[in-house]
Amino acid sequence: MTQQFPSNKPLLEAALGRTPGRYPVWFLRQAGRYLPEYREVRAKVDFTTLCQTPHLAAEVTWQPLRRYDVDASIIFSDILIPCVGMGQKLTFDKGEGPVLSNPVRSDADLKNLKRADAHKDLGYVGEAIALTKTKLTPTQTMIGFAGAPFTVASYMIEGGSSKNFTEVKRLMIKSPDTFKALLNFISEVTIDYLTMQHQSGADILMLFDTWAGQVTPEDYKTLVLPHVKVITSALKQKGVPVIYFPGQGADRLCELSGLEVDVIAVDWRTRLSHAKKLLKDSGLTVTLQGNLDPQKLIGSEAYIRQEVRSILNEVKAANLRGHIFNLGHGLLPHTPPESLSWVIDELRAFK
Ligand code: CP3
Repeated sequence: MTQQFPSNKPLLEAALGRTPGRYPVWFLRQAGRYLPEYREVRAKVDFTTLCQTPHLAAEVTWQPLRRYDVDASIIFSDILIPCVGMGQKLTFDKGEGPVLSNPVRSDADLKNLKRADAHKDLGYVGEAIALTKTKLTPTQTMIGFAGAPFTVASYMIEGGSSKNFTEVKRLMIKSPDTFKALLNFISEVTIDYLTMQHQSGADILMLFDTWAGQVTPEDYKTLVLPHVKVITSALKQKGVPVIYFPGQGADRLCELSGLEVDVIAVDWRTRLSHAKKLLKDSGLTVTLQGNLDPQKLIGSEAYIRQEVRSILNEVKAANLRGHIFNLGHGLLPHTPPESLSWVIDELRAFK
């Protein structure tokens, strides 16, 4: 048989603007607490250790693939794992979300960070990717990922999740040089980290900018986006396809001029047809990914099927360059697992 790589991977084909063999679908955060088999593994091991142990990370990455006919696998890890490589301790206290030790709030704190070596300090993620790939079908795409610099910095500065981003904005406003130097530092680590994931077998890389919507459009354009561009340009030079997710980002899509990515992941607040228009006005012709509201998955089977059709009709009418079906943000822990099967089934039946 002639080798068709990579044209036998529907997700990659759609990402590159070619016609895929079938409609690609996967789910943001498709591994995790909504699956009983994930909770079983987590009962025995803490979250950071799970991410740092390749055979366990691969096992939970495979869990959704055993249940669902999805076109991609995303390596089980977290956007905060590189912070561990930079010297912060990561814990997940019950009910509190992530906690990072030694928040970075001054030049002295920044100097204390370690320039993580992607292979030595974070190589377990590459090992998990290589192991995961051994059980993928030839049509499944392996996705690697990282957080975008501002989103990762927000956790590093706050020492965890934040409501108002007070410390982030304090650093941004009162110590702009330190803020910029921190984002530069994270960008350098992220380029090495994503390159290592690609070398380990990731076919495409996703940059999560979950908190892109937390700053003003002007601050986004001048202080946040330039760091994203440094990373995506470096990856472009290496020929790796990239998906960028500007979270809460309706208003960000008109700021992306000059960004070199293949796919923009759109959250559920924006119509895909509107996203296409805003991106086009910024000079970007890209494939779109998204954008079912993850909360819709608590609905009845009929309701979920209707919501899926609604997005598919929108895609058809918008005449996109390409579309990867997904959620508009990550799956939530209270999601009934059977809901995902209805989404896939409706998508496969759609004409
Ligand atoms: O299959 C997958 O996609 C899972 C891999 C994955 C996780 N986190 C596992 C995880 C991915 C891609 C992420 C990305 C991530 N992590 C983002 C960007 C995507 C998004 O949702 O916006 C962000 C902002 C984080 C940071 C993070 N990690 C938070 C805020 C939390 C706590 C809140 C929560 O959702 O639990 C985490 C923890 C986390 N990351 C869990 C999982 C499965 C739950 C931890 C547990 O098992 O106890």
